[in-house]
Amino acid sequence: MEKLFLLISCLLMFTHQFCSEAATSNPEYPYSFMTADAQKAASRSYDYIVVGGGTAGCPLAATLSQHYSVLVLERGDSPYGIPDVEDFRGSPTTNPNVAQGFVSEDGVQLVRARVLGGGSAINGGVYSRASTEYIRKIKWDEKLVYESYEWVERLNAFQQYKLSTWNSATKDGLLQAGVLPYNGHTFDHLVGTKISGSIFDENGKRHTAADLLQYANPENIVVLLNATASRILFSFGSGKPKASGGVEFRSNNDGLIYQISLNQLSINSEVILSAGSIGSTQLLLLSGIGPKRQLKEMNIPALLDSPFVGKQVQDNPSAAFTIVSSKPLEDSYSQLAGILDNSQNYIESGSLVQRNNGTNTQYLGVLDIKLAFPLSRGDLWLKSVDPRDNPYVRYNYYSHSLDLQRCVKGIKVMVNLSMSSSIQEFAFTDSGNSKTLQFLGRALPKNQSNDDALAKLCKEALGTFNHYHGGCQAGLVVNERYLVKGVDNLRVVDGSIYKDSPGTNPQATTMMLGRYMGIHILQERTIS
Ligand SMILES: Cc1cc2nc3c(=O)[nH]c(=O)nc-3n(C[C@H](O)[C@H](O)[C@H](O)COP(=O)(O)OP(=O)(O)OC[C@H]3O[C@@H](n4cnc5c(N)ncnc54)[C@H](O)[C@@H]3O)c2cc1C
Ligand SMILES: *[C@@H]1O[C@H](CO)[C@@H](O)[C@H](O)[C@H]1NC(C)=O
Ligand SMILES: *[C@@H]1O[C@H](CO)[C@@H](O)[C@H](O)[C@H]1NC(C)=O
Ligand SMILES: *[C@@H]1O[C@H](CO)[C@@H](O)[C@H](O)[C@H]1NC(C)=O
Ligand SMILES: *[C@@H]1O[C@H](CO)[C@@H](O)[C@H](O)[C@H]1NC(C)=O
Repeated sequence: MEKLFLLISCLLMFTHQFCSEAATSNPEYPYSFMTADAQKAASRSYDYIVVGGGTAGCPLAATLSQHYSVLVLERGDSPYGIPDVEDFRGSPTTNPNVAQGFVSEDGVQLVRARVLGGGSAINGGVYSRASTEYIRKIKWDEKLVYESYEWVERLNAFQQYKLSTWNSATKDGLLQAGVLPYNGHTFDHLVGTKISGSIFDENGKRHTAADLLQYANPENIVVLLNATASRILFSFGSGKPKASGGVEFRSNNDGLIYQISLNQLSINSEVILSAGSIGSTQLLLLSGIGPKRQLKEMNIPALLDSPFVGKQVQDNPSAAFTIVSSKPLEDSYSQLAGILDNSQNYIESGSLVQRNNGTNTQYLGVLDIKLAFPLSRGDLWLKSVDPRDNPYVRYNYYSHSLDLQRCVKGIKVMVNLSMSSSIQEFAFTDSGNSKTLQFLGRALPKNQSNDDALAKLCKEALGTFNHYHGGCQAGLVVNERYLVKGVDNLRVVDGSIYKDSPGTNPQATTMMLGRYMGIHILQERTIS
């Protein structure tokens, strides 16, 4: 039964893919169902309102639209035709039309997406699945997980057959430093050194989660751009508050406030938050769901005292080291992953050509390390009641001593990597004929025997991969089906439900999660 259902929905999706492709004409707005006309979009009700057309939201909405009417509310604009997004050499993270920077209370500079496609439109492009252990621990249905990854990969994941000079050297260096075995090209999470997938294709063109809307049923979906949700609207009767009132949002085009409601004829209609770790958590708080005392401080009427909203948020600490190369390098994004055997650190690399002004060109090779499963956790709380403002976030990096110990272990491998003959190829030879790697900024030591010095280096080099997650954590804020505890008709599907970040990089699993939960929701309704 389940198999048959999947087969039918799969067939349907391929038909629709071709239908919508045929309807594509304007390359800047390729979907007939994408609009910024708030008045028209708000003139009807929907079975599902998905808040946030991001990495999880797009695949989720595309899947639900096979059988039900869906509205996607996205605060940003279309990613199509924006060179900063589409070209791998672009700088989306510093383009305010598609990204919003924020500084954590720890002082780390981070960035949020503000564009259809979400993080997948501004990120580094690495595509890598979660480990089998992760999938088992989180108790997902393994078969559906792999089917969902494949559904994403048919459109959005590419094997990288051409390695850049720097990535190729890093690959050899990792093997020399003992990050073994070599696993070749794979999307799978395997201990050792591998060539990861990418959402950049062979031509360096980015494929964002918005591309998964090709799977949508164009008759059943509206994607409203430039629409910032401000709160969820509840109705009260017997039992728990229901999100059936829908969502209030502000159109950035006309500056007006609109309310959009759920289909009142169905008891199964839902508002689904897919606004990301920061956005979904913020929206629950703005809607009166959160720690009571904190809501009171902001003069928000408490609908539900939910003490864990915004608690235990996390960002994986990282450290990047930049080497000025003695040889020419190309611009290249991250293509490799060194997955260390204690599974506590991941190493990646990339390179860039710094064309200062035509006369002096610098070639920079970057080695990056990320702590896989930090124990330090932090908090998110509101700065204002304006949904356009960033909330306060504190990640408390390295507040747990074990995190620092694990970083030290990882840095030791980085030292060995930098000392490998493959990386030493890029060193400069001085007058005394000895070779030295020239670092831009913070250097890796040659000597890895001083743990205290390495711990100090971890703290000084503290940076981020922007893999921050949590805020509506599964088990605390939402239940095992990601329904918000204490209210009805409200779910969260995005990186805010994670306790730990999946895979070396999370986007593969977050796109997968959108598809996976879409199928789950369709199945729940077929069964009930
Ligand atoms: C700079 C950077 C580099 C990264 N590199 C990689 C990488 O190489 N590989 C990888 O796997 N991962 C990478 N990541 C992480 C990954 O991209 C994110 O973890 C993932 O995209 C998060 O998905 P999400 O669905 O939880 O949220 P998002 O994709 O951020 O989606 C949230 C969406 O909701 C919208 N939204 C928010 N609030 C509202 C509101 N109030 N109303 C309406 N819409 C709203 C946002 O505009 C956004 O489109 C990177 C992230 C960043 C920022
Ligand atoms: C969205 O808003 C931006 C900035 O206000 C504007 O330039 C853009 O045209 C809008 N997009 C659409 C599709 O109307
Ligand atoms: C280019 O950079 C060099 C060195 O940084 C500087 O001396 C020179 O004035 C610059 N030239 C231009 C045209 O900006
Ligand atoms: C680094 O290399 C040295 C010398 O080969 C070796 O003794 C040491 O164990 C390596 N360290 C790590 C963390 O792999
Ligand atoms: C590395 O540092 C340790 C402790 O500080 C020292 O004993 C050792 O001689 C150093 N090794 C090298 C190769 O410099």
